[in-house]
Amino acid sequence: MGILEILTFPDPRLREVSKAVTKFDDSIKQLAADMVETMYAAKGIGLAAPQVGQLFRMLVVDTRPRDESGSRYNYEEMTELEKKITQPLVIINPVIIKGDGKTTFDEGCLSVPGFYETVERFEKIQLQYQDVNGNKHVLETDGLLAICLQHEMDHLEGKLFIDHISFMKSKKIKDQIKKFGYPTKDDKDDEKENTKKEKVEA
Ligand code: CO
Repeated sequence: MGILEILTFPDPRLREVSKAVTKFDDSIKQLAADMVETMYAAKGIGLAAPQVGQLFRMLVVDTRPRDESGSRYNYEEMTELEKKITQPLVIINPVIIKGDGKTTFDEGCLSVPGFYETVERFEKIQLQYQDVNGNKHVLETDGLLAICLQHEMDHLEGKLFIDHISFMKSKKIKDQIKKFGYPTKDDKDDEKENTKKEKVEA
């Protein structure tokens, strides 16, 4: 199948609660491979199955710096815990079994492209999940990987990062998108000139 279409807000499928994966068959493995390919093609750091219209509790992440734009997230900025984890990761039926501390990050989302808002998350998490073969694992991480995993897990509940910000800010963004659609590539280029920090979407 290859690269999949990424749904954008206000698509109603992004508001559904996704179902647990119970059969770890070839179609799940194919979906995982396609999601990784789609995430890389979109230059995202994470992607959840409902973002491609598949309502399964499944997500992929890769928060490592990329060759084309190493500046977006420096290797030196990765935490020791993050560096220990092999990425890309395919995470199925995830559950946070422990969350510690608080951190904030300017989050973006492939399903709300061009918008970035500061969201608060656990700083460090312990996550129980299954791999594509159904084997159970527990990982512990912090840094951008922990933030990204929490962002993707929200998608499985039909929740978006713009639901975490103040009601007025959230309403403003949602109304703007519904009225005018998403910023064009030219708008984004203008914005980039004004912001030093590279933004990431997931
Ligand atoms: Co997202």
